[in-house]
Amino acid sequence: MPGVDSQQLDPNRVIVFDTTLRDGEQAPGFSMSSQAKVQMATALRDLGVDVIEAGFAAASPGDADAVRRVAGEVEGPVFCSLSRANEEDIRTAYGALQSAPKRRLHIFLSTSPIHRAAKLNMSAADVLDTAVRAVTFARTLFDDVEFSAEDAIRTEPEFLGDIMEAVADAGASTLNIPDTVGYSTPDEIGAIFAAIKRRVEPHHPGIVISAHCHNDLGMAVANTLSAVANGARQVEVAINGIGERAGNCALEEVVMALRTRADLYGVHTGVDTTKLVATSRLLSSLTRSPVVRNKAIVGLNAFAHEAGIHQHGMIADARTYEIMRPEDVGFSGTRLVLGKHSGRHAIVQRAEALGYRLSGNELGEVFARFKTRADEIGEIDDSELLIIIGATNAED
Ligand code: KIV
Ligand code: ZN
Repeated sequence: MPGVDSQQLDPNRVIVFDTTLRDGEQAPGFSMSSQAKVQMATALRDLGVDVIEAGFAAASPGDADAVRRVAGEVEGPVFCSLSRANEEDIRTAYGALQSAPKRRLHIFLSTSPIHRAAKLNMSAADVLDTAVRAVTFARTLFDDVEFSAEDAIRTEPEFLGDIMEAVADAGASTLNIPDTVGYSTPDEIGAIFAAIKRRVEPHHPGIVISAHCHNDLGMAVANTLSAVANGARQVEVAINGIGERAGNCALEEVVMALRTRADLYGVHTGVDTTKLVATSRLLSSLTRSPVVRNKAIVGLNAFAHEAGIHQHGMIADARTYEIMRPEDVGFSGTRLVLGKHSGRHAIVQRAEALGYRLSGNELGEVFARFKTRADEIGEIDDSELLIIIGATNAED
C-alpha cells in the first residue's frame, strides 16, 4: 500500500497530504457533516492519498466527532488532526485519533512578525519555546508529528530556519512551510525551500519538508511545484482546490502537473489519477458546489473542443490539442462539442457515429442548416443533429 513509509525508501516519492476535510472544509460554503466526511475520506483513500487531515479536533465537538469517525471507519492512509501548540489541543487530537492504526499530529503556530504581534502577542523567543515544548509533549503521545510555521513565508528567514531546526531537534518528522496568505511567487518560495533544506537536512536526514500553498494570487499550484523542485517531498492539497479564501493548492492539478511534466520534476505520487474526476464530483455533490466548466483537469471543458480548427486537429491526432489523455483523469474520452465554431470534419465524424455518411451536396446542406441552428441555440447535441439531417433528407 502506498503510504508515508514508502517515501523513506524512495527519495522521488512525493507524499500527498490531503486537507480537503480540514482546510478545505473550514472555508465558507464547504462544510460537511461527519457522514459526508467519512464518504469523502473513503474516496480519498481509494484515490491513493497518503495522509488525510480529517479535521481540527479541538475546534468543536462536531469536528472531534468527524475526526473520530473518519479515523475509525476508513482504513489505509495516515489520519491526522490539526492542533494548536498546547497540551489540551494535543490531548483532544490524541483522543479523536485513537482508533487510527496510523496517526499523525499536526501542530501549527504562527511565526511571522505580523502574526506574533497582532495574533499571539508573543516574542520570537516565546514562539520558538512554545513550539519546541508542544512538539516535545506531542512526541510522548505520537510517533508522527508535523509542525507548521503558520505564515512562514512572511517570517524572517533566519528565524524560520531557527524554529524549523529546533522543532526537528524536538522530534517533528515533517516540517511544513505554509504560504498561509498566498503571497509568495515561484522564485521566492523555491529559494525559501532550498534554504530550509540546506539548513535542516544535514542534521536530520530523511526529514520531510512540506509545501502548503494558498491561492490568493492564483499561484498555489505554481508555488507548490517550485517547492517540490527545491526539495519539498510532501504537498498539502485539497480536491477542487477548496480552502480558505481563494483556496488551497488543487490536488488534481499538482498531481497531474507532476505526472505530465515528470521530465522536469522527476518525482511521482501514489495517486490513482483515473479517479480524479469521480472524486472531484463527489466533493461537488457533498458540498453542493459546482466546479466551473474551465477548471483544469476535472472541469467539463478540460477535454472538450468546439472550434473547427481544433476539432480537425483532434480528429487527426489528439496530441495536437491535448497534453493529457482524458481517460487518465477519469473522463470517458474527449468531447468534440458541435456548435457555431465547429467545422465540417467534426460534423461528418459525429454523423457517422450516428449511422449517416454525409458528403457532397447533402453535407453542404446539413452544414448550412447546422450553422443556422447553432447560432440560435448554441450547442448541437445528437438529437438536434439527427433532426437537421432528417429535415435535409425530407426536402431532397
Ligand atoms: O495555511 C496555513 O498556514 C494552515 C496551517 C494551519 C497549516 O492551514
Ligand atoms: Zn492553510
